[in-house]
Amino acid sequence: MRLVSQHTDDHYVFTDVVAADDVETTLLDMTDAEAVNRMVDAENIHSIVNCAAYTNVDKAETDEAMCRRLNADAPRILAEAMKRVGGLLIHISTDYVFGGDPYNTPCREDQKGTPTGVYGQTKLEGEQAIQATGCNYVILRTAWLYSEYGKNFVKTMLNLTATRPQLKVVFDQVGTPTYALDLANAIAVILAKDKDLKAKGEKMASGVYHYSNEGVCSWYDFTKMIQQIAGEGSCDIQPCHSSEFPSPVKRPAYSVLDKTKIKETFGISVPYWTDSLKKCLLRLKAKD
Ligand SMILES: NC(=O)c1ccc[n+]([C@@H]2O[C@H](COP(=O)([O-])OP(=O)(O)OC[C@H]3O[C@@H](n4cnc5c(N)ncnc54)[C@H](OP(=O)(O)O)[C@@H]3O)[C@@H](O)[C@H]2O)c1
Repeated sequence: MRLVSQHTDDHYVFTDVVAADDVETTLLDMTDAEAVNRMVDAENIHSIVNCAAYTNVDKAETDEAMCRRLNADAPRILAEAMKRVGGLLIHISTDYVFGGDPYNTPCREDQKGTPTGVYGQTKLEGEQAIQATGCNYVILRTAWLYSEYGKNFVKTMLNLTATRPQLKVVFDQVGTPTYALDLANAIAVILAKDKDLKAKGEKMASGVYHYSNEGVCSWYDFTKMIQQIAGEGSCDIQPCHSSEFPSPVKRPAYSVLDKTKIKETFGISVPYWTDSLKKCLLRLKAKD
């Protein structure tokens, strides 16, 4: 969002619960309702984009109360703050709200949530808590996020495929990667539409939408493509079953998101996953 925000005149306040080393951050604990409302008033906030969450899927299984506080209670606080000022909450949710049923067609927004663990369950509760407040909201479910920033799958696999002789990666979990910059651009389109409507005295319809890049792949295919595009190392990458990497949570086996609704509603065009991966890897190289 920081990159995207540079292309508008809108006033953005970037917050986090702890200060980041390299970027300007305003401290805000989103579980503190008073602090959230104080900031909304002080900064004259009309929209919130909530990217914060409890995201450690495995640890969530033994830290349920904290996970629920961040993934379900905090979104309600943000929603209530936006309801009070007639603003819009754009909330990032996840493909982990699905997974319990063996789907083999792309997941649609109105499909029943079937989370398999605490993370997915609390993210689903967060969506429901937002909806229950009656605020104006856009819930954006996304999946397999990566970018040139922070810790993520692409950066981990770049490192592993360049340094290891052999690597096993699961091929029985299928989805679609999402370049965070593409998601941020989609959010910018939604914010601009909301601003236009508000200028005309109208209000955007609330709704749940899906956004990932286009296409379908397994984590194994994703890793092979990272190696191929990066063109580094001679690591032998082999497909394996999820059972070879035991984990406290069963991960969705098929969480391809159907993006028809967001494309039709907002006129958003969604890049193909390998095109976006190439862009990200180029930007990463330029950062070195
Ligand atoms: N990563 C994925 O593949 C993926 C896939 C689908 C959906 N999502 C969703 O996308 C969003 C972003 O995910 P991510 O992987 O980028 O997450 P992330 O890297 O774990 O970032 C989450 C952020 O939330 C902040 N946070 C934690 N507690 C907070 C609090 N009390 N008040 C304010 N901020 C707080 C964290 O701060 P600290 O770092 O200081 O704790 C961190 O900056 C989440 O909603 C997630 O559910 C992610």
